[in-house]
Amino acid sequence: MGKQFYSVAIDGPAGAGKSTMARILARELGFVYVDTGAIYRSVAYFLALMGISPKDTDGVTRLIDEINLQITYDETGAQRMILNGLDISGEIRTPEISKGASLASAQKVVRSFLLEMQREVARRHNVIMDGRDIGTVVLPKADVKIYLTASAEIRAERRYAEMLEKGQKADFKQVLQEIVQRDQQDMTRAIAPLKMAADAVKLDTSDLDIAQSVAQMKDIIARSIPL
Ligand code: DC
Repeated sequence: MGKQFYSVAIDGPAGAGKSTMARILARELGFVYVDTGAIYRSVAYFLALMGISPKDTDGVTRLIDEINLQITYDETGAQRMILNGLDISGEIRTPEISKGASLASAQKVVRSFLLEMQREVARRHNVIMDGRDIGTVVLPKADVKIYLTASAEIRAERRYAEMLEKGQKADFKQVLQEIVQRDQQDMTRAIAPLKMAADAVKLDTSDLDIAQSVAQMKDIIARSIPL
């Protein structure tokens, strides 16, 4: 059987701009954008709702099969996370859920539960999927792998500006500290830690704006996928 769908894997640390770029590229290429961080965030949200700590392996193991989670796309192509029939896409974007998602994602049972869900989307669509282990674990045969990164200070500055723009209260030092802590957690966990795949192309966006980053990513993609 010939190849059916293309996949682009984008990995990298928190705040590197993965979702911003992936969303733009997906629209331009007509691919489905899969934000896998949102799936881990939804699990963290569910655990918080049930009063289970994301560090509590027994509790998480007991509850994981009870999650009724669906990924849907609205008319603009934006991914929506549906938990028990309720759209929680807005609720999962808080610093508490960021922390909880990073902790929950270190649990083996959570990662194996979500693995098939992510692969299934890639079996049915051309995808741009972003996360931490897409090129290394979820889609090891992705047509294109990009490792997007930027210095911790720049990533914190971007996150800080984003929060102010949304009218949220923010403290730069705290934002930076949370980014560094999440890098540490995501890079040092035992299962599927964040690392660059051997066959990924690294792109440092510290000195690039969004348009420049998108243009460079398009060039990288065009080397392997006919656009
Ligand atoms: O990309 P994000 O900030 O929304 O991700 C939230 C957390 O989920 C991140 O700190 C680590 C985890 N995650 C993961 O372990 N694997 C992925 N493919 C995506 C996210």
